[in-house]
Amino acid sequence: MALRKIVTKEDPILYKVCKPVEVFDDKLAQLIDDMIQTLTKAQGVGLAAPQVGFLKRLFIMDLGEGIIECVNPQILKTSGKQRVVEGCLSCPDDWGYVTRPNKCRLRAQNRYGEFFEITLKELGAQCACHENDHLDGKLFVDKIEERVKPGKDE
Ligand code: NI
Repeated sequence: MALRKIVTKEDPILYKVCKPVEVFDDKLAQLIDDMIQTLTKAQGVGLAAPQVGFLKRLFIMDLGEGIIECVNPQILKTSGKQRVVEGCLSCPDDWGYVTRPNKCRLRAQNRYGEFFEITLKELGAQCACHENDHLDGKLFVDKIEERVKPGKDE
């Protein structure tokens, strides 16, 4: 495994639409393992492939109960609202309140290409929506309603 460099918001890759993952091979597994190591080291909640330089539809989340690997994710349904403080590993100086769905239903594949569905609430729903936006070249900074000082915990 290897740590990958997390790009910051000056990097044009963060504004591009990612392509679906079509090959579920060792290379993909290696990338996911590297992303896990990188997210753990950074003590983040979520990390999307474009943040480490890959225009692939893939993100991982660590909601405190083990890593969730989401390849080719689709948010099937959202409900409710939550106004929460959010940050991003690619935007270390930007923190602020955003409004996100309070609940979402997510369908994705794992590293072997097997489909699964999960229901996520609160931090999970926030994180999945944030990471899914990365795959469409969108950064949370455009959603900030009220800024807070950098470093405030979510
Ligand atoms: Ni982010």
